[in-house]
Amino acid sequence: MAERHILVIGSGSVGQRHAANLAALGCLISCLDPRHDRRAELAAATPVVGAYGDLPTALGDPSLDGVVIGSPTKFHVRQAQAALAAGLPVLLEKPVSPGAAEAQALAAAVAESNVPLLLGYTWRWWPPLVEAKRLLAEGALGRLNHVRFVMAAHLADWHPWEPYQDWFMSSRELGGGALLDESHWIDQALWLFGLPESVFARIDKLSELEIDADDNVDLLLNYASGPRVSIHLDLHARPHEKTIKFVGEKGTLLWTADPNRLAMGREIADTWQETPFDCQRNDMFVAVAQEFLAVLNGQSPSCTIADGLAVMEVIEAARQSHAEGRLVTLGDG
Ligand SMILES: NC(=O)c1ccc[n+]([C@@H]2O[C@H](COP(=O)([O-])OP(=O)(O)OC[C@H]3O[C@@H](n4cnc5c(N)ncnc54)[C@H](O)[C@@H]3O)[C@@H](O)[C@H]2O)c1
Repeated sequence: MAERHILVIGSGSVGQRHAANLAALGCLISCLDPRHDRRAELAAATPVVGAYGDLPTALGDPSLDGVVIGSPTKFHVRQAQAALAAGLPVLLEKPVSPGAAEAQALAAAVAESNVPLLLGYTWRWWPPLVEAKRLLAEGALGRLNHVRFVMAAHLADWHPWEPYQDWFMSSRELGGGALLDESHWIDQALWLFGLPESVFARIDKLSELEIDADDNVDLLLNYASGPRVSIHLDLHARPHEKTIKFVGEKGTLLWTADPNRLAMGREIADTWQETPFDCQRNDMFVAVAQEFLAVLNGQSPSCTIADGLAVMEVIEAARQSHAEGRLVTLGDG
């Protein structure tokens, strides 16, 4: 197989990571960013064959085999549509878009073009969570009653190289905020349990962070036959916490990102049977890059635009719930 030539759109944090990983997997890389300094940073770490400031020129290169989109969320759909129209498979970073309507337009474009799109809800490739899914499926906890997701991390700690106020995550208009950006954990809930029947949500700006996006989200997902699922997402907490606690009839399974482990507890006392993992954060990005290369060779994407649309459906239900102060049934909106 000849070297694949991949255009990486957005040369910031995730774009630089994807570029380096795909180059290590043997790809030629071109990059695009409106900021010259970002293109230069990416090119300093990863040799590039092209560096562009605008999309039509970049997509004009006939040697491209695929496109990775790691720009601010606001731009995802129109850039993905342009790549699909050029016949180029897409690895799209999450979330699909700020709202469900654009995500639906992109789903239509994927169907119409018949060009594959892999969606980067990258925690699906994280070995401890793959193992947790397997344990739940084989009934290790018996009937599940309650699941609690917590994703809490102070925004100022995420990108220490830039003022958080300047980063798209601070901006509602650009698609930042806890609900959209931390929708990984909504995706995890849907990956494990499917779409809930109804959603109750509070979506707030509570902290003193100088942002106009939301920074504190509490969601309750209700399943007719399935656990109660609560999801807390915030951008203001220190120390950081990423945990999922699955509580079933036969015990509790606890996943923590730090320490990197799964723990099973079945006793009254606070005693846990621990399974440590040694995977590094970049491994999940390497895994998604490997799958993207397999998609270029004809494999079907495992995380699809339909998965992204389902997350957007929950997000829109959550927004409606917050606005109206009531439980919202999915499909009601
Ligand atoms: N899967 C994951 O775990 C993961 C991790 C980090 C980021 N992301 C996603 O990746 C996206 C980018 O996040 P980031 O942290 O890399 O942000 P970032 O700000 O570090 O990088 C975004 C880059 O896009 C550039 N940009 C701005 N407008 C653009 C446009 N119109 N076209 C192309 N590039 C443009 C910016 O100049 C910047 O360099 C977001 O959607 C985010 O949710 C996903």
